[in-house]
Amino acid sequence: MCGITGYIGYRDAYPIVINGLKRLEYRGYDSSGIMMYDGKAMNLSKTKGKVADLEFIVNNEEKRKAGKIGLGHTRWATHGVPNDTNSHPHFSEHGDLAIVHNGIIENYDTLKKELTRRGYTFKSDTDTEVLINLIQEVKKNNKCKLGKAVQIALTNVVGAYAIAVFDITKPNELVIAKLGSPIAIGVGKENSEFFVASDASPFIEYTKNAIYLEDEELAIVKVGKDIEVRKIMDDSMVDTNIQTLKMSLEQIEKGGYDHFMLKEIHEQPKAIIDTYRGRMLPDQGIIKMSGVDDHLAKFLNADRIIIIACGTSWHAGLVAEYLFEDMARIPVEVEYASEFRYRNPIVTSKDVVIAISQSGETADTLAAIKLAKSKGAFVFGVCNVVGSSIARETHAGSYTHAGPEIGVASTKAFTTQITVLSLIALKLAKEKGTLSTSAFQNYLRTLAHIPSQIEQLLKIDDTVKEIAAAYKDAKNCLYLGRGFNFPVALEGALKLKEISYIHAEGYPAAEMKHGPIALIDENMPIFVIATNKGHYEKVVSNIQEIKSRSGKIIAVVTEGDTQVKEIADHVIEIPETLEALTPLLTTIPFQLLSYHIAVMLNKNVDQPRNLAKSVTVE
Ligand code: AGP
Repeated sequence: MCGITGYIGYRDAYPIVINGLKRLEYRGYDSSGIMMYDGKAMNLSKTKGKVADLEFIVNNEEKRKAGKIGLGHTRWATHGVPNDTNSHPHFSEHGDLAIVHNGIIENYDTLKKELTRRGYTFKSDTDTEVLINLIQEVKKNNKCKLGKAVQIALTNVVGAYAIAVFDITKPNELVIAKLGSPIAIGVGKENSEFFVASDASPFIEYTKNAIYLEDEELAIVKVGKDIEVRKIMDDSMVDTNIQTLKMSLEQIEKGGYDHFMLKEIHEQPKAIIDTYRGRMLPDQGIIKMSGVDDHLAKFLNADRIIIIACGTSWHAGLVAEYLFEDMARIPVEVEYASEFRYRNPIVTSKDVVIAISQSGETADTLAAIKLAKSKGAFVFGVCNVVGSSIARETHAGSYTHAGPEIGVASTKAFTTQITVLSLIALKLAKEKGTLSTSAFQNYLRTLAHIPSQIEQLLKIDDTVKEIAAAYKDAKNCLYLGRGFNFPVALEGALKLKEISYIHAEGYPAAEMKHGPIALIDENMPIFVIATNKGHYEKVVSNIQEIKSRSGKIIAVVTEGDTQVKEIADHVIEIPETLEALTPLLTTIPFQLLSYHIAVMLNKNVDQPRNLAKSVTVE
């Protein structure tokens, strides 16, 4: 986690670095810091808290902003509590070198002991300060340039890193390296300037040309000179692959919404259209997905599909289990990536593994993919971030095309993941003949209707606000759903926990009687998905059981419902659709509800405590 950014060139670096940090705050936000080189000295400003707190400190002293070279960091603490001292950038003991780092140096303790033995002292508790002193020690002992020193030092490091390093004795260059954590280098016209960042958002208004370093690569950027990229381990030169970015500035700004989360909730109709555009072709009666088409035999001959993911993406995977088994009759297992990677799973070359990840950087998912590949499985990625580590590590894949998701609580990523997975399930069902042509066509027509139905649903905001006001002070909540909507219940509970810090549990509705029912009293709000298809009568019975124990019932029902309306305290209506597609609609009220509760409780919606958008540590 953590966001790093930097600049070297002809412009004032401060606005670029500080604004870049604001855009990267989704990656971590417990402390931040900036180093500005003013031509003579490196001026360091660091503080616990948000980037806004850092900006406040820097604004009080013009000197802290001066210079055409800067490095910035926004932190999600791993080694060392969030405080001013542990914030990055870190300097080497002699004060010549500065570093910003995203990742974990796992053998930092051994390295620190060795450096201590050689006389080094440390100000912070971080692994990063150990790394910069190791680089200094290598540079001194080998009498080499910064690039070489960083390279040699990194061969002694176990762990993950994306780093940018500056040397005051060579103030025309930055050294950047990557293993496991993402890093992009923005390239200005004729190499007149360079930008460094954890993703391309900090430099999108300055250049569309970017290089994404691969693992174990190191780049040396010098103003006015060609970029040099090398492999860290064998020192071989790498051809620089400059990509043209498609991201726009509007995509990463709030666009008039109070929070990114609300903007992203409202972007879902468009995001879903972007997801199926060019893939779902109802007129031709086909689904075209090159990632699947190119490997169709793998999918059709698979013994089973194993889905690996974390958090919300795992919930999308659970929806996919219902989709694949119901439509395409392929056995599916859904695994938490963090469990899968360590439990010696049975995986063979007859398995297809689908890895789902919005960020494409989640460490556990990445490790699970590597494990599955090592056992011979074909691994397919469903990612949002183009060019991300998971997108590159998988054999093939389909992007969700949701556009940047900045709010830490995932919203449009979830619905677009379900859209991609629905398309794959439908495609396989058609190929296998497990779905009739008319049913297949009906799915395509109905899916094409979902974006406008979400538009319609988003208008229920006032009803949701009333419900939010009524239950915002609840201490515990229960979310219930069955079948395709059981994962939506889990996702609803996760959304509430994440941003309002209210304890919430998701359960299959019928499981309630095996335990959670004991919790129900007149103070307990229970959110139940009771759409007219999928065990409706059974869910109604569950609702009756709640009613007789005085629980408060907030039900998500299909338009025109009368039965649940008579029993529930509140109802939210969703438009009619096919049962397998209901998660795309039932999830919307829960997103809005969590959002409004968090706002009413004055919580930081986009940056909830202790969380980060991409979890690049295990
Ligand atoms: C979602 O609201 C969460 N912030 C979190 O559970 C997230 O889905 C999880 O960390 C997985 O992230 P990924 O999709 O980027 O892999």
